[in-house]
Amino acid sequence: MGNCMVRYTIATLLLASLSASTVMAETAPETTMTIYADRPGAIINKNVYGQFSEHLGSGIYGGIYVGENSPIPNTGGFRNDVIAALKELKVPMIRWPGGCFADEYHWRDGIGPKDKRPVRINTNWGGVPENNSFGTHEFFDLVEMIGADAYVNANVGTGSPQEAAQWLEYMTGDQDTTLVKERRANGRDKPWKVSIYAMGNETWGCGGNMRPEYYVDIYNQYVAFIKAQPGAMPELLASGDHDNQTTFTTELMQNVRGRMDAISLHYYTILGPRWENKDTATGFSEAGWINTLANTLRMDDFIKTQDSVMTAFEEKRGRGAMRKKMGLYVDEWGTWYKPAPGSNPGFLVQQNSLRDALVAAANFNIFHKYADRVRMTAIAQTVNVLQAMILTDGPKMILTPTYHAFHMYKPFQDAASLPIDIKTGTYKYDQWSVPQVSASAAKAVDGSIVIGMANLDPHNAATVSALITGAQAAQVKGKVLTAEAMDAHNTFEKPDAIYPIDFNNAKLTGNKLYVTLPAKSVVVLKLQ
Ligand code: AHR
Repeated sequence: MGNCMVRYTIATLLLASLSASTVMAETAPETTMTIYADRPGAIINKNVYGQFSEHLGSGIYGGIYVGENSPIPNTGGFRNDVIAALKELKVPMIRWPGGCFADEYHWRDGIGPKDKRPVRINTNWGGVPENNSFGTHEFFDLVEMIGADAYVNANVGTGSPQEAAQWLEYMTGDQDTTLVKERRANGRDKPWKVSIYAMGNETWGCGGNMRPEYYVDIYNQYVAFIKAQPGAMPELLASGDHDNQTTFTTELMQNVRGRMDAISLHYYTILGPRWENKDTATGFSEAGWINTLANTLRMDDFIKTQDSVMTAFEEKRGRGAMRKKMGLYVDEWGTWYKPAPGSNPGFLVQQNSLRDALVAAANFNIFHKYADRVRMTAIAQTVNVLQAMILTDGPKMILTPTYHAFHMYKPFQDAASLPIDIKTGTYKYDQWSVPQVSASAAKAVDGSIVIGMANLDPHNAATVSALITGAQAAQVKGKVLTAEAMDAHNTFEKPDAIYPIDFNNAKLTGNKLYVTLPAKSVVVLKLQ
């Protein structure tokens, strides 16, 4: 009851500030859009909204899994609060166990009685003991609890093709083999479904410092031995490039002999240009705001570059030579700031603000544009690590602005992308400039048209007029996420400082839509 009152008061204040922004809109140029509802394109695979959960800091231990004997309310060791929040988010896919961790992970360490599982050192993340109480069975318990698909990352750096092949048999087999019997003895009768099986991670770096040529040989060797029963074969994912690099993609497209369904791309948003130059997660300046947004928008060019490399190979081989269009899976993306003060720097803990919600929305809008190629992504990471959805502190849990952006964009999962022409002004500060409005549209599974928009300008509202061709809608509903401060964020003391509220600044007249986006906001509209 008390909490409701707080929510109501905050909502009232926010609405007041939205009206103030509306007045300021008169000074900003109008944004115009045409949304072609009569020309639906590729389906936005629900897995574009995937998540990455690594054995890193309290990303899993403490954040998701606390063990059955924990005083924190749990089911089979899984935090009830976090599981409920992830279910509500409709998380479609989880990538596990890493990251850099994957290339030192030996799956046998994480099966069987917990008191017999070996304790290792997590050499990548903080040098802390890893007791392996969360292993294969626990991972599948997690994905089954939240209704997600499983993406498993095999160990190429310190593993072997045999280890990777046997792990897949352990997970997916249903004949009476010794490995399958072992799984059954460990409590799981039915085989699990592995949707994506990745061969290594960042093989140009923590995954083995390999040259592209060397990795492609290794990839070919691994996949020659990855076998599964009919219907149980996962998609096979090769470890690819980062940022604007294309050497791995080029080499993979050229020289892979066996099955390859997709190639990964990693891109983290930092201030740059050097990796060490990171911003603080909160308390940043306007330069930090725009620099971060300008850098995150580079994702568009990076995907375009990868797409053109892949397309060139696909066209060279002729239509039909490849089983299907190669996937580009952006399985690590998001902001990377300085570690939260007082935290273990190896645990990559950071606060999460309104700026992160805009980063998320801008990336969703980019991913939708490339829906035919980018069929899966995983933000780094789900809980307590980097651009997290959820932060926990002992028994306490908060949802971040990034969680809210994902929640608002849920209708885009499995929707048909719609082409959109957009003309918008420029928001400039110091040496940076970015488009004021980022947007995308889709035809949702329920037939409605969804439009996702972010106004990147922290000072001016954006007036948007959109023409929707080929569809007539009778009503428009929506949600907005905004706040007074650029770094508005939730804390354990004030868990509801920022959350989405109903949006009433959109009007439909025939097939024209008029919207006023508040400064620094994310808005998702549903037209029915
Ligand atoms: O997400 C944190 C780390 O970033 C991952 O383990 C690694 O793949 C990347 O460098």
